[in-house]
Amino acid sequence: MNTGIIGYGAIGREVAARLRRGDVPGARLGGVLVRKPSPGMSAPDFTDDLNEFLSWGLDLVVEAAGQDALREYACPVLERGVSLAVVSVGALTDDGLARDLRRLAQETGAKVYFPSCAIAGLDRIAAAREGRLDAVKLTTRKPVGAWYGTVAEEKYNLAQLTEPVLLYTGTAREAACLFPESVNVSAALALAGIGMDRTQVDVWIDPTLTANVHQVEVTGEFGRFAFEVQNRPSKNPKTGVIVAMSVVKLIRNLAGPFVIGV
Ligand SMILES: NC(=O)c1ccc[n+]([C@@H]2O[C@H](COP(=O)([O-])OP(=O)(O)OC[C@H]3O[C@@H](n4cnc5c(N)ncnc54)[C@H](OP(=O)(O)O)[C@@H]3O)[C@@H](O)[C@H]2O)c1
Repeated sequence: MNTGIIGYGAIGREVAARLRRGDVPGARLGGVLVRKPSPGMSAPDFTDDLNEFLSWGLDLVVEAAGQDALREYACPVLERGVSLAVVSVGALTDDGLARDLRRLAQETGAKVYFPSCAIAGLDRIAAAREGRLDAVKLTTRKPVGAWYGTVAEEKYNLAQLTEPVLLYTGTAREAACLFPESVNVSAALALAGIGMDRTQVDVWIDPTLTANVHQVEVTGEFGRFAFEVQNRPSKNPKTGVIVAMSVVKLIRNLAGPFVIGV
């Protein structure tokens, strides 16, 4: 599994380090596409040229660079028949992009993978969709510090809050527009389950918390399941350490004989 990575930030660096170390039998680092190489980043490992990147015989490209980079690179990657792992899944709230990726993958035989990243249970929600799936609800709670510089500041005097307040209740699609920092989790749940317009999202400002908490409740023909994740931040405080691990687990599944938890 010759793996290329787009982006060399918190996620890209960690995935690259694990591949270089040989943590995943059957997989290796093919190279990294960066926006602007810094000193020490040179061929054969790094390039800022998409065509050079795609000439490296890649089996899989991991996008770990953000929504704009996904919009820029996803189609050219798939057009070459190379499979793509999407981390910035929030970009898929754009139905047009989602349609393009699906069409190109069908035409070329490439696959588009959505690792669980910051959330859990996508495998189970997608399985539940094979029957009748009634409701998917996400409740996101973040401490006050997470809300400075967002629309929350227009509604509340954040420094004065002592009790949790419900900032928003509505759909995943609308939440994704209002709170881009929560977009990946709500978009991933919506893609796995009942779509952007039926996935319910509550967003809380919670001055009693120190971590970001996501609670998910799913009901359907299969029964019910509910879970909570509390993600420990990586070097990028907005990204949990579990995200790179989730990408590495996908590569392990693709490269190895056993595929656990799909
Ligand atoms: N699905 C999920 O649950 C989940 C969870 C966490 C994060 N994410 C997504 O993952 C993305 C990456 O997270 P991160 O923590 O690794 O971010 P990060 O530390 O900010 O790193 C992003 C890297 O991508 C690079 N980049 C940006 N645009 C690029 C382009 N056009 N071509 C090549 N490289 C480009 C940046 O380079 P510069 O240094 O040049 O800016 C930076 O090195 C985030 O944007 C977020 O949307 C998803």
